[in-house]
Amino acid sequence: MDSRPYWELEFEPSAWKLGADASATGHNLGESSAKRSTSKSASRSSASDERGLKDHAGIFSESDFAAEVEACRELAASLLTRPESGFARLPQKENLWTAIDLRAREVARNTTHMVVVGMGGSSLGGQALLSSCPRPAGRGQVSFLDNIDADHFWSWLRSRLDLGSTHWVIISKSGNTIETLALADQIDQHLRASGHRRLSTNATVISETRDNPLTHWARREGVPILEIPSDVGGRYSVLSAVGGLPAAYAGLKCDRLVAGAKWTLENLDLVARLAALGQVQAQRGDQMTMLWSYAEGLRRFGFWWQQLWAESLAKPLTEEFPYPATIPVPCVGACDQHSVLQQAMQGGRPLSAFFIRVAACEETTTKLERSLFESQSFLVGKTLGDLYATQAESTRLALQEQGVPTAVLRTKLLDERSLGALFMLWEMAIAVQGLRRGVNPFDQPGVERGKQMTLARLSGPAAGPVSGPVSR
Ligand code: PA5
Repeated sequence: MDSRPYWELEFEPSAWKLGADASATGHNLGESSAKRSTSKSASRSSASDERGLKDHAGIFSESDFAAEVEACRELAASLLTRPESGFARLPQKENLWTAIDLRAREVARNTTHMVVVGMGGSSLGGQALLSSCPRPAGRGQVSFLDNIDADHFWSWLRSRLDLGSTHWVIISKSGNTIETLALADQIDQHLRASGHRRLSTNATVISETRDNPLTHWARREGVPILEIPSDVGGRYSVLSAVGGLPAAYAGLKCDRLVAGAKWTLENLDLVARLAALGQVQAQRGDQMTMLWSYAEGLRRFGFWWQQLWAESLAKPLTEEFPYPATIPVPCVGACDQHSVLQQAMQGGRPLSAFFIRVAACEETTTKLERSLFESQSFLVGKTLGDLYATQAESTRLALQEQGVPTAVLRTKLLDERSLGALFMLWEMAIAVQGLRRGVNPFDQPGVERGKQMTLARLSGPAAGPVSGPVSR
């Protein structure tokens, strides 16, 4: 087992009000910001009282937090064997990873481009993975189609000159998602109409192996199927063929991805501390959780994280945990310092923020020799990484000064190992939070109504009753 710490979590207990004395925040607030912070606390307390929440200030003693961490650690350990949390067993599935590598090699022999068609959890993880890890040169290109914006779709498809050497990967865990199947239909029709061979001759399906419209088509047409194990939820499936096939096709090393994920599973204390901070946020009455990634490569990772958080945690409140889930807001530094940072600083909504810091993004060697701008002369002798690191820390401190608790996840560089570890870390921490709250972190019943209405409108009464929720 690889014991290198891929990720470390840092936070100041006082900023999270984890000390015995709530007033000892440890921060050197200026007069005006201290006042703002006090009035914010007051309004948050009364909002909390209205909802029957505990006053957030000072309720978390260090021993409360330690007990929460311990409870989270036990739940994290239970995820390794629970029937519905197959995602935590994916790294052990050697046959699955062998099948992924084999298929990627087969496909790469005859094609130059892979297009991944899928929605939500069947796409976002692959996008995050491919945009964060450096890829070896000379490998096939990978694109993702995860929208049915007809204008965008048709201009994209009609502009492709390489349809003859494109491999299509149709991903749907349920095999039933209308957008995915509609895209496959339109692609097939276009291929035939433009004199190419039909879709099934150059495709792979990734789905549950049980019979569903997609696997039925694949079996009928002889399209190879890679399995998403039925105990793995859609948005928890990045560390399966869903992320693995496009990654392997692009030349990423899946064994390293798996090694990273295994590292997280060996470090459940990290999972537990991250999950426990999430519990504290919700109990404080926070409305937002920001994820500030100071790494351009993690821009798409933020969208994956947002979906995982929202679909897993935003569920009706339970008696055990009557605190609403926070709204996940992914941000990228430094860009979003010029955007949503204003909202975080003065928007008047209680929130907390996780930062992701990557040493490689901050440790560049090229020092500025001279500046074109007199006002920037202080940057001479410094690298762009020095500026990036300083901005990350200053933004974090500025937020904390406003009463926003922050925590930092740090790694050395973005590669398959650190990404494998990061995906597994958030999957575990979010699933643990769901279980601690007494909600099911693996379903998403709230999205079914819109699907039913779409079906009812398109198929009409003659087509019979609208199908019920798809269970995954
Ligand atoms: O997490 C989930 O289950 C969802 O976000 C799904 O990934 C998304 O709805 C796509 O579903 P499917 O993979 O069944 O096509």
